[in-house]
Amino acid sequence: MPVAVVVGTQWGDEGKAKVIDLLAAEHDYVVRYQGGHNAGHTVVVGDQRYALQLVPSGVLYEHVTPVIGNGVVVDLPTLFKEIDELEGRGVSCSRLRVSSLAQLIFPWHQSMDAALENLRGDTKIGTTLKGIGPAYADKTLRVGIRAGEVRNAESFARRIRERAIEANQQLVAVGGEVVDVDAVVDRFAALGRRLLPHLCDTVNLLHDALDTGKRVLLEGAQATFLDVDHGTYPYVTSSNPTAGGASTGSGLGPRLIDRVIGIAKAYTTRVGAGPFPTELMGELGDAIVDIGHEYGTVTGRRRRPGWLDLVMLRHAVRLNSLSEIALTKLDVLDTFDTVKVCTAYRVGGRLLSGYPDDVTTLGEATPEYEEIPGWKTELRKCRNYDQLPEGARRVVELVEQHIGVPVTIIGVGPERDDCVVR
Ligand code: GDP
Ligand code: IMO
Ligand code: MG
Repeated sequence: MPVAVVVGTQWGDEGKAKVIDLLAAEHDYVVRYQGGHNAGHTVVVGDQRYALQLVPSGVLYEHVTPVIGNGVVVDLPTLFKEIDELEGRGVSCSRLRVSSLAQLIFPWHQSMDAALENLRGDTKIGTTLKGIGPAYADKTLRVGIRAGEVRNAESFARRIRERAIEANQQLVAVGGEVVDVDAVVDRFAALGRRLLPHLCDTVNLLHDALDTGKRVLLEGAQATFLDVDHGTYPYVTSSNPTAGGASTGSGLGPRLIDRVIGIAKAYTTRVGAGPFPTELMGELGDAIVDIGHEYGTVTGRRRRPGWLDLVMLRHAVRLNSLSEIALTKLDVLDTFDTVKVCTAYRVGGRLLSGYPDDVTTLGEATPEYEEIPGWKTELRKCRNYDQLPEGARRVVELVEQHIGVPVTIIGVGPERDDCVVR
């Protein structure tokens, strides 16, 4: 199996990084294909916790080459801060390769992100304010600056200056905070020099590696329902986390991919605004947030909690051609009297067969639930499927029955080994 993709099936933070770290043991390259430092990917090894935003989650293995693919938007200050922190903890990042085609994020993108959110008033998206949307907008407008441009220091500085001046004019128009042009030029000239040894034609790097039998894992950030095409638009991110985006964002065509692992949390969370049919507002929701530590890695925001939603997951199977599911954080539900799983939506009394394609209908959807008696046992020590209590196995069976793909990994704790692999 040469190329596998890991993709979030909900609204992010499903535990993708933990599964990537687990699978990276048997891969040679781990490649981020979209998004940027809006991602917060947590890997726990023993008593060490790593929170990664841009560096691929395979970095902890010496045999892995971590790659930032062409589809990513790269914030250089964050990248080097992350590299410095990792190296300070003994994790070498010299192998990191960054696509020369990747777009760079600049301070004016962050100013614009904040200004646009302010203008939205009550209809804020609740972005991470990292400049992701404006950076992808510039890419699509064909005015973005790509990583490879640092190779020519003079024209790189000139382009930054031109773009900064234009961006400041636009920022004034929307009441945003302008940037100090000279300071940005100087700062990014230095960051550009630091990027040089990592710059790479990652498309040919990966194809050449595949030609010699190496194995590649494509690391999705965000998730299916934050996808700019298929997610709950406009409450989405500005890239394509779905599996198709993995091809575009890495330069590896779809026929090379033969394994697509969807990561689903055993409940659902969402950060930021947008419809959420199975959302839990009361004490049960607070319990999920407390036990599951559901606070954003990047922004520290409380994540909105809710029950597992199989209507979403069924749609995620279609959108991503999922071959399997990793069901994470099942242990978070250990103490619950009853665990609920949504199997269908009702809108105006009518049962919906598929996921609605507009947010208004989704906002009106009432979930139909299957109720499972709680197992009231600690799952953390379980390593075989047979060791799981009946209630926990029932959740897994329900998922498989309703979405038609196997659950191959079950998360029972945050650490690398805390899982049941089937
Ligand atoms: P990602 O963005 O999808 O990589 O997920 P995050 O890292 O943002 O959030 C997942 C959180 O859950 C992290 O703190 C992980 O350490 C933790 N986690 C992952 N899998 C499990 C699991 O099976 N059980 C528990 N209790 N925690 C988990
Ligand atoms: P990982 O990879 C959860 C959400 C934001 C906001 C929307 C748009 O850790 O799962 P953006 O800054 O991307 O323009 O924000 O998307 N969002 C995430 N939510 N996990 C993430 O990443 C997210 N990245 C963006 O909260 O609602
Ligand atoms: Mg996250």
